[in-house]
Amino acid sequence: MRIILLGAPGAGKGTQCKRIAERYGLLHLSSGDILRQERAAGTKLGKKAQNYMDSGALVPDKLIVEMMAGAISKAPAAGFVLDGFPRTVNQAVELDKSLPAREGEDQRIDAVLSLEIDDRVVVERMTGRRSCPKCGAVYHIENLKPKVEGRCDRDGAELVQRPDDSLEVVQNRLKTYHQQTKAVINYYKNSPAGPAFYHIDANREADKVSDSIFESLDALVSA
Ligand code: AP5
Ligand code: MG
Repeated sequence: MRIILLGAPGAGKGTQCKRIAERYGLLHLSSGDILRQERAAGTKLGKKAQNYMDSGALVPDKLIVEMMAGAISKAPAAGFVLDGFPRTVNQAVELDKSLPAREGEDQRIDAVLSLEIDDRVVVERMTGRRSCPKCGAVYHIENLKPKVEGRCDRDGAELVQRPDDSLEVVQNRLKTYHQQTKAVINYYKNSPAGPAFYHIDANREADKVSDSIFESLDALVSA
């Protein structure tokens, strides 16, 4: 199964993608996490991406498309779930072009889920977010607490706050989302013979959001 999760910053893409990947045995590919790994490793791509990410702007399409095509080409046959990509209509078009080329098999996207959330909820979630620098697991100081304060449940690493989670940068990321990324929803919704499309209310608590997602995907798997 090949799935895309769309949604504003802080909508819960990372949280839900981890659960989807686990339930259906898929590879979780987060463009943001890959970029952060590139930065931590001090690669050329990481250095190029740095200023865009820190200000809440998008990294240029060309760099992202190349990076994600490389990651997708290594995905297992079971499939993948994309988190944070595509984020412009141009990226979506490039993704479509690259997929059917793989080994003559049908590699098209099966489902797109759009996590819909109010901006005010985003701000609250981002400022309380803590993440594991080792495995990427995501927590919240009020809503999704780790078992031991400040430590990752999976590997015990010390949780950190993302540098782009300050109020000012979060506001820029939201602006970028409304100006450049929201159009991707219509790209998939209006695509004839395109993937199945689901609107998901992401303002609710995480387990309720997962229930809606699993209900949609279970139906797709058994169809
Ligand atoms: P990226 O890392 O993708 O950031 P983002 O899209 O802004 O989204 P986030 O990761 O902040 O939020 P999320 O939706 O994953 O929510 P999460 O599950 O963590 O991108 C970072 C930067 O990289 C971009 O700004 C850009 O510069 C660049 N970039 C990345 N991809 C790009 C692309 N394709 N093109 C160009 N540039 C690109 O949840 C947030 C918090 O809320 C957590 O604390 C969580 O515990 C909590 N939470 C989650 N769900 C719930 C719930 N239902 N109820 C209560 N709390 C919840
Ligand atoms: Mg994320």
